[in-house]
Amino acid sequence: MIEVKNLNKIYSSFSGDVKVLSDINFKINDAELTIIEGVSGSGKSTLLSIMAGLEKPTSGEVVIDNDSIAKLPDIHISRLRASTIGMVFQNFNLIENLSSLDNVLTPLIALKTPLKEAKYLAENALKVANIEHQKNQVVSKLSGGEKQRVAIARAIVANPTLLLCDEPTANLDYKNSKIFLELITKLSKKGITIVIATHDPIFKELELNYSLIMIKSGQILSKEQING
Ligand SMILES: Nc1ncnc2c1ncn2[C@@H]1O[C@H](COP(=O)(O)OP(=O)(O)OP(=O)(O)O)[C@@H](O)[C@H]1O
Ligand SMILES: [Mg+2]
Repeated sequence: MIEVKNLNKIYSSFSGDVKVLSDINFKINDAELTIIEGVSGSGKSTLLSIMAGLEKPTSGEVVIDNDSIAKLPDIHISRLRASTIGMVFQNFNLIENLSSLDNVLTPLIALKTPLKEAKYLAENALKVANIEHQKNQVVSKLSGGEKQRVAIARAIVANPTLLLCDEPTANLDYKNSKIFLELITKLSKKGITIVIATHDPIFKELELNYSLIMIKSGQILSKEQING
């Protein structure tokens, strides 16, 4: 279970403070699917990156399975991230001069998975994300949509129990967006907790129940249950 409690994030600079998240509170049960919607600049990426332990909140906390992640030492957060969290970043965060396969291997190398098994798992993740045909291509030579699919493969390769996706279909065509929806459906039914920040209307086609959180200017406007 994930609990986001009284979360605030302020970015400070010479030109002043910017309050990006204000008093965010919500809970996500295990195996629940949550979609976060809000216009550009509303704070979606900031919220996901705090939930992943990549950024610290100014105040408040994110509790994952009884661990308050901002309070864990960095080494523990890294371990938690490697073993339980998969993340699809809005800007992919791939290593541009490595191949697709090597990028997808990186989480498994961090977990010390034996290489033969790691290769098998990475190739399978690339297949599931419909990008296996580009496995040996260096990432810098891939299109935006192809990079997004490699980023999806990397996020799922280590069997995370929590999958955080930041605008995961922003660069995908309709066919690949549908493949992604099928993947989300399958993973959700398997019991993985999934959080997706998006404004892609294609998620209305999901045949799953999910909770929809609307955020505006860093505040939660509403949270409702959608029965798909
Ligand atoms: N490092 C930073 N320093 C200062 N301001 C920042 C920083 N990162 C984000 N912001 C500001 O915080 C606000 C929220 O940004 P964020 O990226 O979380 O929005 P978003 O909802 O993900 O937007 P988009 O839909 O465009 O991806 C924006 O106004 C942005 O300019
Ligand atoms: Mg964003």
